[in-house]
Amino acid sequence: MQPEGKLGDIKDASLADEGQRLIAWAEREMPVLRLISERFAKERPLEGLALAGCLHVTSETANLAIALKAGGASVTLCASNPLSTQDPVAAALAVIHDIPTYAIKAEDNETYYRHLNAALDAKPQMTMDDGADLVAMLHTDRQDMLPGVIGGTEETTTGVIRLRSMSAAGKLRYPIIAVNEADTKHLFDNRYGTGQSTLDGITRATNLLWAGKTVVVAGYGWCGRGIAMRARGMGSQVIITEINPVRALEAVMDGHRVMTMDEAAPQGDVFITVTGGKHALDGHHFQHMKDDAIVANSGHFNVEVNIEALEDLSTDKTRVRPMVERYTMGDGRRINLLAEGRLVNLAAAEGHPSAVMDMSFANQALCAEHIAKNAKTMTPEVYDVPRAIDDNVAALKLAAMSISMDELTPEQTAYLASWEAGT
Ligand code: ADE
Repeated sequence: MQPEGKLGDIKDASLADEGQRLIAWAEREMPVLRLISERFAKERPLEGLALAGCLHVTSETANLAIALKAGGASVTLCASNPLSTQDPVAAALAVIHDIPTYAIKAEDNETYYRHLNAALDAKPQMTMDDGADLVAMLHTDRQDMLPGVIGGTEETTTGVIRLRSMSAAGKLRYPIIAVNEADTKHLFDNRYGTGQSTLDGITRATNLLWAGKTVVVAGYGWCGRGIAMRARGMGSQVIITEINPVRALEAVMDGHRVMTMDEAAPQGDVFITVTGGKHALDGHHFQHMKDDAIVANSGHFNVEVNIEALEDLSTDKTRVRPMVERYTMGDGRRINLLAEGRLVNLAAAEGHPSAVMDMSFANQALCAEHIAKNAKTMTPEVYDVPRAIDDNVAALKLAAMSISMDELTPEQTAYLASWEAGT
């Protein structure tokens, strides 16, 4: 462990070269962010701005932090999850890019919060959150820092839900753009990113064969849709559990079986929670699962699986593989919990592939620029990503993929704007 200081708090500075290679590898697949970074280096829209990011410290996040720095920001990073940090990347950010980084893979809860505090000690004028922990800390223990903050962004569904609660309660003290709500974010990152990386994490943790398995997915939001689609593609039979009737109906018509978790518990081989809520898998569900069932969470916080209930019901707990804890129940059945119930895609794999983070982080960078330019006219509320930014990210991504689109002719434009013409 390095002493905490100018570098932040990282596991091992000697990993920096390895981290730099990972960052460069990710960059190949991030052409939209590259274009933004090049423009930022010329225009410096974030000149002199202190920015604290509480994000998963991955090779993709590193490319975002480098782009923000190219735009003139002084960036400090801390981890948004104790298990998601890529230690070589954290080292490269701190040592090679002079971005103080407070993140160590498998840090305990106390260190996690110490790192958040350290990022706030840098007196940020802008926050970039993934899960709203930094915002929550600023509005509770560190209110002294609030007057200097002009705005922020939020990356994920869970964070946006928290922010909307804060806003509804009249507690939110500065404007925040909900990056998650951009079409070019959730339609791609949440669906294709989570879909692929969740199966990747479970595969790396267990080496399981998906073909022929019954996979129970709790939650049919964009993440659940993506996971279900990819599990089916691997030959699994998918069961969806939902609390929202429209989503449940959509899952049925997408061809999945829909039932309650009570009904699904004895049927599933693999359980994946992506509800954004609490205890989607609870004690009474564990009591009815098959022997050797696999349980994983891909939602933001580790509260979707009631781990305390699992602990209480079990007579033994053994780590059987690096990311697999096997609980033995009173009646001898075993239940395998992956990654301590934390985000399995980031803890057991590398999170979403770079090509999809390219779009999410292009939105982040452009929203940071938007706030820097417009903060004076923004009020403390949760904002959607401006349409122009969303459309721009899609257009740049298509161009980077060498894909062209049609354009309306003047006649077609006039037709769409008129109401007189029928058949
Ligand atoms: N969230 C999901 N995947 C991620 C990644 N690869 N980097 C940063 N945040 C993520």
